[in-house]
Amino acid sequence: MEGRRPLIAGNWKMFKTVPEAVSFVQELKQAAAGFKGVEVAVCPPFTALVPVAAALRGTEIAAGAQDVHWEDRGAFTGEISPVMLKDAGCRYVIIGHSERRQYFGETNELVNRKIKAVLPHGLVPVMCVGERLAEREAGVTRQVVHDQTVAGLAGLTPEQVAGLVIAYEPVWAIGTGKTASEEDAQQVIGYIRAVVRDLYGSEAAGRVRIQYGGSVKPGNTAGLMAMPDIDGALVGGASLEVDSFLGIIKAAAGGRAGSPGA
Ligand code: PGA
Repeated sequence: MEGRRPLIAGNWKMFKTVPEAVSFVQELKQAAAGFKGVEVAVCPPFTALVPVAAALRGTEIAAGAQDVHWEDRGAFTGEISPVMLKDAGCRYVIIGHSERRQYFGETNELVNRKIKAVLPHGLVPVMCVGERLAEREAGVTRQVVHDQTVAGLAGLTPEQVAGLVIAYEPVWAIGTGKTASEEDAQQVIGYIRAVVRDLYGSEAAGRVRIQYGGSVKPGNTAGLMAMPDIDGALVGGASLEVDSFLGIIKAAAGGRAGSPGA
């Protein structure tokens, strides 16, 4: 773990109106105040970003977006730019989620372009990688995450890579109730870290945070977080209720020796 602070991030996807989002974070910020060993973020839909970030100001909980455009401004109807996300109070931005890749045709090249676009604004990309079921069954998981990692991070400096977050999310585990086993998740995440080491050196590989995502729940969090290379979780379904999200935060804070209060 080399001192990396785990990040528990909730990806709300296309759920929650503004009142629902604000009442969630009001409750969360009271309840989550004591867990200092982990960092917490919520990623609401764009419409709720401004009020959520405002409600979280002065707390240690960060706001993040679920996607971004690669230009700062321009004639791109329907899109949201890195400048706008920064202005809204975001710290994180999820890039290349498998649903964006699957339903909106996002490629590794586009992911790379978006990552390069957000870094100058001080936003922290959470770059998602992960294999589909057919790819796992065909035994090409490593090849897939290798190619996604190499292409997604192309052209970045080791310092930039060290500061970002990678989320390993096997597509077959997202929203299905099937989690990768702790050992499986550790193996692939350890492999991704080795890929980063080959390309950007040990310092970047030792600092970059790599999360697991895919059906993370309070009950499976501690086991996953006990793995040496897993630095937190990207949580979908279980991040929509305060109780279950808090259960994950608690389990992650307790799952690493010496992390609570660190
Ligand atoms: P899930 O989603 O926790 O509902 O499986 C994870 C994700 O899509 O980030």
